[in-house]
Amino acid sequence: MSSERTPLIAKVRVAEPRPRYPHAVLRRFCTVALASILIWFFIGVAISMTLLPDGSSHHHHDDKWTWPGHPKRKLSYEQLQRVLLDNPSSRRAEEWSRYYTAGPHLAGKNYSQAVWTKNKWEEFGIKSDIVSYDVYLNYPVDHRLALLEKEKHAHGASTWKVSYEASLTEDVLDEDPSTSLPNRVPTFHGYSASGNVTGPVVYVNYATYQDFEDLIRANVTLKGKIAIARYGGIFRGLKVKRAQELGMLGVILYSDPGDDGKNTEENGEKSYPDGPARHPSSVQRGSVQFLSVSPGDPTTPGYASKPGVPRQPVDTAIPSIPSVPISYLDALPILKALNGHGPKADDFNKYWTRNTGLQYKGVHYNVGPTPDDVVVNLYNEQDYVYTPLWNVIGVINGTIPDEVVVVGNHRDAWIAGGAGDPNSGSAVLNEAIRSFGEAIRQGWKPLRTIVFASWDGEEYGLVGSTEWVEDYMPWLKDATVAYVNTDVSVRGTYLSPNAAPLLDNVIHAVTAAIQSPNQTVPGQTVHDVWDKRIRTMGSGSDFTAFQDFAGIPCLDIGFTARSDEPVYQYHSNYDSFHWMEKFGDPGFVYHRTMAQVISLITAQLADLPIIPFRAADYAHALDRYVKQVEDKLDEALSPSTELTTAPLLNDEAYFELRSSTRKSFASLASSSSDSSVESFKISLKRLHEALRKLTARATELDKHADELKQKLEQHVPWWKWPAKLKLGSKIREVNTKYKYLERSFLFEEGLDGRPVFKHVVFAPGLWTGYAGAVFPGLMESIDAQDWTNAERWVDIIESRLKNAAHRL
Ligand SMILES: *[C@@H]1O[C@H](CO)[C@@H](O)[C@H](O)[C@H]1NC(C)=O
Ligand SMILES: *[C@@H]1O[C@H](CO)[C@@H](O)[C@H](O)[C@H]1NC(C)=O
Ligand SMILES: *[C@@H]1O[C@H](CO)[C@@H](O)[C@H](O)[C@H]1NC(C)=O
Ligand SMILES: *[C@@H]1O[C@H](CO)[C@@H](O)[C@H](O)[C@H]1NC(C)=O
Ligand SMILES: *[C@@H]1O[C@H](CO)[C@@H](O)[C@H](O)[C@H]1NC(C)=O
Ligand SMILES: [Zn+2]
Repeated sequence: MSSERTPLIAKVRVAEPRPRYPHAVLRRFCTVALASILIWFFIGVAISMTLLPDGSSHHHHDDKWTWPGHPKRKLSYEQLQRVLLDNPSSRRAEEWSRYYTAGPHLAGKNYSQAVWTKNKWEEFGIKSDIVSYDVYLNYPVDHRLALLEKEKHAHGASTWKVSYEASLTEDVLDEDPSTSLPNRVPTFHGYSASGNVTGPVVYVNYATYQDFEDLIRANVTLKGKIAIARYGGIFRGLKVKRAQELGMLGVILYSDPGDDGKNTEENGEKSYPDGPARHPSSVQRGSVQFLSVSPGDPTTPGYASKPGVPRQPVDTAIPSIPSVPISYLDALPILKALNGHGPKADDFNKYWTRNTGLQYKGVHYNVGPTPDDVVVNLYNEQDYVYTPLWNVIGVINGTIPDEVVVVGNHRDAWIAGGAGDPNSGSAVLNEAIRSFGEAIRQGWKPLRTIVFASWDGEEYGLVGSTEWVEDYMPWLKDATVAYVNTDVSVRGTYLSPNAAPLLDNVIHAVTAAIQSPNQTVPGQTVHDVWDKRIRTMGSGSDFTAFQDFAGIPCLDIGFTARSDEPVYQYHSNYDSFHWMEKFGDPGFVYHRTMAQVISLITAQLADLPIIPFRAADYAHALDRYVKQVEDKLDEALSPSTELTTAPLLNDEAYFELRSSTRKSFASLASSSSDSSVESFKISLKRLHEALRKLTARATELDKHADELKQKLEQHVPWWKWPAKLKLGSKIREVNTKYKYLERSFLFEEGLDGRPVFKHVVFAPGLWTGYAGAVFPGLMESIDAQDWTNAERWVDIIESRLKNAAHRL
């Protein structure tokens, strides 16, 4: 409880779990004891005096009156914005990037980087602390991957001959010092199982749920075999999860250059460090945790990993079969060993021939399995330990005690470098914090408290952030307005936000206020060159526990790479400072821009008197999501659609379709006459009905907020303090409604089979992991053809929509 919390956070007001009806609380405040009235009065005074323009920014003297004893705001919002736009520097961002990428910083392995980060933030003027948890992690010990062929000798004897020994390492490059560090991190998978397995190989495409279904339909034996799968599309741990469920012995994951876009060696581009293509030896490390089921420390689902807490078995959260990541160079001999065995990828359907990029190297993409005399030996040894990891938490106290904005980025990386993932974000966050420090020096104090976080252990499964959220859950649920995340802040030039719909407005407003580094058209803003797409929240970074466990609206933002930009060699040694400097962001100009973006987003959320949410955007998004559910149902019930013949889709739609757990469309179509399907279809109308009410209420609230905003901008003479006070308390009321809106969509029991996920609107797709699913309870029930459960979810969602409308 609060006494166990670290001192810094203990000083921030920690509230009891929020009662169900905030209105009742407000009413009590206003009506019960004199003491309460006084408290309310003084909060009202404090807020109204801080909120209302007092003229200090305009250097007029007629309206400089402030409430006696209350510090006058020294920086107006416009002045704050100026500081935050002027301060971030490319040169500094480059300096921070150089520091973070100088040595390995695997989760729980680099305390000095935590201390350095804390010291920097304090130097910038932000009080900071290190908050640690004892978590379950693995570190690599040994591994081997070899192709073995049986040699027959005279007299009928036979021996196994090693026909290929995989290097499992990445080449050292003279130009890139990160690649030759003596203590660089070996290639391995976070949370992978130790094991030594030998067997024939099967090529399983992207290892999506439907890839495995296609193999089963084609009678390809999976049990007792080793899978070789290409990376891409879905979270890697879910590839291993399905292979394990189907009785496979182990999994090899490789990076196919066909997924790299236009910059490939096949297209005549040189590979890194001479050009933009992937280095053939580059290996994507990464976690194989079952992320969509249970992120965070797998031994403490739902509670924080404090020393001495009970630990749960891990078998539902991490794999029991071994896996290794390899380069395409190491994959070639294995893929070629499959040539001529079993069906070919093009015998299946077009989902199997998408982006196959190694034909020119002699790979035919046969599925296999290889005959019994051609096998692979996969040996993986991991050391599992309980070890501390270190989040760095910095706080700027605001004027309003129970409104908080959290801003975070992770610090740990799979490699010594990590200039993109995550340290472009760390450099950006440091620049944002330095800029806020400068504002504080100029006398600024935010309205709302700002908490900055440098998370550890993100890469293994969002461990540092998840444990922290679990630790501070009641306080976070009570006080948090929003969580702002940046992970890979820069890997290209293409702005790519994910956000809860409440925050769409903030992204538009902020990007329109910031110059793009691309000045092809002089004066163009980040907003001008952005495609205006905001994706839904899935998983794959530290916002997950905030959004899906705590019901806090989140956004996650960075510049990603287009298919014609240099290939970002994710989780490999080539995500290094040298790559960033030469290919990713020469001059670190996009780093500077992202620091401005993060700073301004934070400032809008923490310092605008009225929280800049749009409730109507949420209501409209919910309406679109219900339509998506209806479309999915229609598509599923139409006998003419087949999973294998639907038109080729963009990446997201492709992997959403291929991650569906539907057995076949035919069986669904036959059940369409079923009365329970009809009843489910009709029940969806109730959601539209509830949404009509919510939309009306949401639109009203936004309108009311706009009116208050206009009133704020009007000049109010000091002697009209009762009017100021009234306005302050009205603003407080609107802000409270905005703050708790997202929380209305939590369901305490959680999603089917994954109780830690409590949000009924957003979750990572069960079999995609990264991509966000909307109304997961409904979508999964349709896939499972469980119409009773589907109706149960309609009830759950409907009651949440009604409750949300009621609270507005
Ligand atoms: C924030 O305010 C609390 C009092 O409410 C105080 O104890 C704490 O030291 C302050 N923290 C910072 C970082 O200023
Ligand atoms: C920790 O990180 C720093 C800065 O990147 C690096 O210089 C140092 O070698 C790392 N320490 C360890 C123990 O890996
Ligand atoms: C793995 O198992 C094989 C037998 O299947 C054995 O020959 C080999 O020595 C084992 N490797 C290790 C590193 O234990
Ligand atoms: C798979 O095996 C079943 C039963 O042995 C057979 O009926 C079916 O035709 C086979 N399918 C293919 C694609 O070979
Ligand atoms: C730069 O801006 C121009 C004009 O808006 C646009 O056509 C171009 O695609 C942009 N280039 C990049 C790399 O963003
Ligand atoms: Zn990351």
